[in-house]
Amino acid sequence: MFCERAWSGGAAVKATARSHPNIALIKYWGKRDDRLVLPHQSSLSVTLAPLSVTTTVEFTTVAAPDTVRINGADAVGTELSRVSEAIALVRADAKRLLKRKGGLGAAKVISHGNFPASAGLASSAAAFAALAMAARAAAGLPKDERAASILARRGSGSACRSIAGGFVRWNRGKRKDGADSYGEQLFDEHHWPGLRMVVGMVSREEKAVKSRDGMRSTVKNSPFYPAWAKSAELDCVAMAKHVKRRDLQAVGELAERNAWRMHASALGNNPPLCYLKPATLEMILALDGLRRSGVPIWFTLDAGPNPVLLTDEANEDRAAQLAREMGAEEVVRCRPGGPSVLLTEVEADAA
Ligand code: PMV
Repeated sequence: MFCERAWSGGAAVKATARSHPNIALIKYWGKRDDRLVLPHQSSLSVTLAPLSVTTTVEFTTVAAPDTVRINGADAVGTELSRVSEAIALVRADAKRLLKRKGGLGAAKVISHGNFPASAGLASSAAAFAALAMAARAAAGLPKDERAASILARRGSGSACRSIAGGFVRWNRGKRKDGADSYGEQLFDEHHWPGLRMVVGMVSREEKAVKSRDGMRSTVKNSPFYPAWAKSAELDCVAMAKHVKRRDLQAVGELAERNAWRMHASALGNNPPLCYLKPATLEMILALDGLRRSGVPIWFTLDAGPNPVLLTDEANEDRAAQLAREMGAEEVVRCRPGGPSVLLTEVEADAA
């Protein structure tokens, strides 16, 4: 596998990785350390197959700036600098751990998603997880899930939950350097194969306030923030138990409550942050009536307008139908996905 080729002292090395995005059942919202991307509270997610991002990283021998192409377009501005910052961390690790003579040159990064980056489906989580895996392998660093998760976290917090597959808890951690703040698998993707996550895309518009800025402002300005962080930490413990029992009703009820509380903390911001659109509210309010008629569908909602409906295999079609009836332009059906993987040369060429 070319991705595991050892560094050969100056020659370019390259690796490709593929990662799924994830949806938080218990949300991450708010950092205690902006630079290291350390959260105030733990969070818990499920990995989303078949959505994925495939990323190739090649360290060249020239010292020119890194180049990054995402879905066929050159990355610029913050998008480019966030990738370059992650690459710089890999260079530093390679220098420290592998004691190389000379450093790694400029990186050439090429990334493709099999779903639209603007769909509010946490494409940055999959992108930074794949980047972390590929960059570490290309630099000749040993396979290390924890280190990859910590690196992915630096790019985008939720990305640390996309290194392992299945159900993953991002431990808040206590250390100042963030060494204990990474994604840890609770159950793999085979634990609950019948769980379904149906995304109802009511809007593809880019949100006015990005998660990064929205959470920073909420921490600072929302009087509800401390209550949110405290309750989310407790929710993580309860959610792990519900997932263990594959108890859809308990998972659904808690996921809804947790999402509402995250949004409540954002609404308490000054100025208030409302990520919902009218169609979002129509869809999530319709679920109550459906459940009373015996259809088990719940929702969760990230910092955007597109609800993710939580249900089982038997009710997946009903959830997709509901999403369309309530104004979703597009519906994406997901199931629990596996971990980030390094691809062989043949697989990478075919991707
Ligand atoms: O990882 P970021 O910086 O894109 O923040 C993600 C925040 C939420 O999607 C709203 C919640 C979560 O835990 O994924």
